[in-house]
Amino acid sequence: MHHFAYRSGRLHCEDVDLSRLAGEVGTPCYVYSTATLQRHARVIAAAFEGQDCLIAFSVKANSNLAVLATLAAEGCGADVVSGGELERALRAGIPAERIVFSGVGKTAREMALALDHGIHQFNVESAGELRLLAQVASGLGKDAPIAIRVNPDVAAGGHPNISTGKKGDKFGVPWAEAEPLYAEAASLPGIRVVGVDVHIGSQIGDLVPMRAAFEKVVGLAQRLRAAGHEISRIDVGGGLGIPYKDSDEPPPPSAYAAMIAEVSAGLGVQVILEPGRVIAGNAGIMLSTALYEKEAPDRTFLIIDAGMNDLMRPALYGAHHEIQPVAEPAANAPRKTYDVVGPICESTDKFAAGRDMAAVSPGDLIAFMSAGAYGAVLSSAYNTRPLVPEVLVNGDKFDIVRRRPGLEEMLQLEQVPDWLSPTD
Ligand code: LLP
Repeated sequence: MHHFAYRSGRLHCEDVDLSRLAGEVGTPCYVYSTATLQRHARVIAAAFEGQDCLIAFSVKANSNLAVLATLAAEGCGADVVSGGELERALRAGIPAERIVFSGVGKTAREMALALDHGIHQFNVESAGELRLLAQVASGLGKDAPIAIRVNPDVAAGGHPNISTGKKGDKFGVPWAEAEPLYAEAASLPGIRVVGVDVHIGSQIGDLVPMRAAFEKVVGLAQRLRAAGHEISRIDVGGGLGIPYKDSDEPPPPSAYAAMIAEVSAGLGVQVILEPGRVIAGNAGIMLSTALYEKEAPDRTFLIIDAGMNDLMRPALYGAHHEIQPVAEPAANAPRKTYDVVGPICESTDKFAAGRDMAAVSPGDLIAFMSAGAYGAVLSSAYNTRPLVPEVLVNGDKFDIVRRRPGLEEMLQLEQVPDWLSPTD
């Protein structure tokens, strides 16, 4: 469910006409709906009502401060993977005690920062990381609350590039090494074992692999308790898929929550969730303007003003985003089959191949739907294109929550060394 719909012939975000917004902000730009973000956070919270649960929004999906502040106001915590994400989450008003720190490559500096703030939990991904964390924490006279992220060797995820829970993936501690590593953790200074963590992939469309992974994790938690470890939390990661097309039917949060309740029944643990896409994905779109139609012998290209640098998902994962014209097409409007491409000098700069859609003319606005997660966060300034701006809508108001940088600002970060400067 989201709040992007046609009204009086124009696509709106909540009560804002997107053609008016595009006129003020320019394209390309991302547009997020406050009501959709709130709704998704509330649906998940309602699904888990009655379970001791922390919803730690996965900041990597959408790290805009305004989006994080919207979710902070809903009571969400954060799952962060860098010192930068940690600072963002704190600045957006998410309390440290609702923040978990994931990721395979935490540095000593990042660990110290997180310890200073007193975060809820470190999700430790290797023996080396555990030992460094012990050193950093004991050096600061603190105890780091940890869960070890285990690799349950379960395949899941919508695309091999986003599957993370199989043997051979870089993520988590291999299943057979988990128990010895917990034993080591218990013996280290500065380490306080609090739980077990798992995350098997993203855009997961059915509960079967998730259930298989969580059952293994619950079994492990029971063995760890029997060995004397205090396991009071299970972090189940993120991964719940969203509909990118009408035909996609991912499991609803209620079924996901019921499955988790069933698998963890009687364990008496806090369940930590790290949802990213399911909260932000359908809460955002990317707006673009059609520039040219170009006929090739076997196809028609629709060239638009957004590139793969602005929305990477199609180039990186072959991902599908629905494309809707902002001006609502009449029921009998002509249709056309396009390859929708951007201006970047790369063949992968393609948003859709052979897409049958309402015919578009140069100057028309189009919207890439379901672009609120892993959209703006993955953007770059490739081809010296300014980073794409982001706009947050709330009812009939909108605000530019990240502006488009000017060329001077972009070039200010660079410098030509003295030896190349002309001498006088
Ligand atoms: N927790 C951990 C440890 C993760 O690695 C991720 C996502 C999440 C939570 C959130 O997963 P979600 O609920 O959003 O599925 N860029 C790719 C997706 C990469 C996902 C990376 N990790 C895409 O655009 O499809």
